[in-house]
Amino acid sequence: AGGDRELLLNGIRDVPDHPKPGVVFKDITPLLADPRAFSVLTDALAAAVTRHGATAVAGLEARGFILAAPAALRAGVGFVPVRKAGKLPGETVGESYELEYGTAEVELHADATGPGDRVLVIDDVLATGGTAEASVRLIRRTGAEVVGVTVLLELGFLGGRERLLETLDGTPLESLITV
Ligand code: PRP
Ligand code: MG
Repeated sequence: AGGDRELLLNGIRDVPDHPKPGVVFKDITPLLADPRAFSVLTDALAAAVTRHGATAVAGLEARGFILAAPAALRAGVGFVPVRKAGKLPGETVGESYELEYGTAEVELHADATGPGDRVLVIDDVLATGGTAEASVRLIRRTGAEVVGVTVLLELGFLGGRERLLETLDGTPLESLITV
């Protein structure tokens, strides 16, 4: 509903010049601090889990964890963390991706997902798309199917959707809010 969109949008605060000059940081902490807005968000994400027939939710460290875990729980499926490199203790698979300066790497436990699993990827923000793209590739490498990528906020002007188009290859990318 339109009211829900407003509620979510009102919980996202623009912080100019963070983490560096010229960047406007999208701060979701006000939304998280408002249990009504957080619940509306969780319902919307849990509905996506159910709609896609996902059997697991992958949350992307760190802010994606906060959104993905309650959504997985509410939808009645398991939660799987995609972490920044070096954090997971077991055997991992990793994928690197390009940042503005240098590269970053995300990892997944090699046995966290596998053939037969239908995984929904959840994160807070889609910006350039690098994080989401690496995560999708990672999950697929374990033999699991990625049934969708769902984000709270898509920054359309950064072209993440276009960057992801080829990798997604028809897998739906959904954002609750696009700016
Ligand atoms: C932010 C955000 C997304 C990602 C989007 O995470 O939470 O995960 O950037 O950017 P992209 O589409 O250009 O890849 P960040 O790496 O800042 O770390 P955090 O979630 O741990 O705060
Ligand atoms: Mg993040």
